[in-house]
Amino acid sequence: MKILVTYKSKTEFTKRYAEIIAKEVDGYLMDFNEVTIERMSEFDVVVYGGGIYAGMVNGLKKAKEMFEESSAKKMIVFATGGAPNAAVNETDDIWAHNLSVEESESIPHFYMQGGICYEKMSFVNRTFMKMMSKALSKKKNKDSAEEGFSQAITSSYDISSEEYAQPLIRYLLEGQRRKEK
Ligand SMILES: Cc1cc2nc3c(=O)[nH]c(=O)nc-3n(C[C@H](O)[C@H](O)[C@H](O)COP(=O)(O)O)c2cc1C
Repeated sequence: MKILVTYKSKTEFTKRYAEIIAKEVDGYLMDFNEVTIERMSEFDVVVYGGGIYAGMVNGLKKAKEMFEESSAKKMIVFATGGAPNAAVNETDDIWAHNLSVEESESIPHFYMQGGICYEKMSFVNRTFMKMMSKALSKKKNKDSAEEGFSQAITSSYDISSEEYAQPLIRYLLEGQRRKEK
């Protein structure tokens, strides 16, 4: 089973998870910017990862379109974000915005907590986050999610860990074993 692990990553959280996954499942790692439909068609499985920006998984729409046009058989998606894995409601919302009901049944999808890295962020995103942080800190009567978010985004943090890549890795390795039987 040939596996392509491809990703779009602005501050390297998704890239780091993609590297871990590719290593563990013996997949071929490629930046999504270099992927074409022809290259995708050389693989059986396409694992796509993207960071979440304002609720949307970076590059996922294009990745789904290319997968549909390719001859690859299976797509698996993972997303990284600033919210902890334990924030199940938030991560459920993310998938509801990024996958249709049919897609969420046919495309296995995994969330992996990342963090915020102001040092690697673009000027535009850094300015946006600082403005949001300021606005939230001034807001009165914040709910608990807003309170947590407001505190989290004041500076860089990294809550990523290899352990959050394990469910996807297990899924792929079990799939490989099923194929060998
Ligand atoms: C402008 C901006 C918007 C973001 N929006 C969200 C969001 O809606 N939900 C979330 O969980 N994380 C959000 N984040 C955090 C990123 O998803 C997180 O840093 C992610 O791991 C980045 O992945 P990347 O570095 O691979 O691109 C946002 C970050 C920035 C800079």
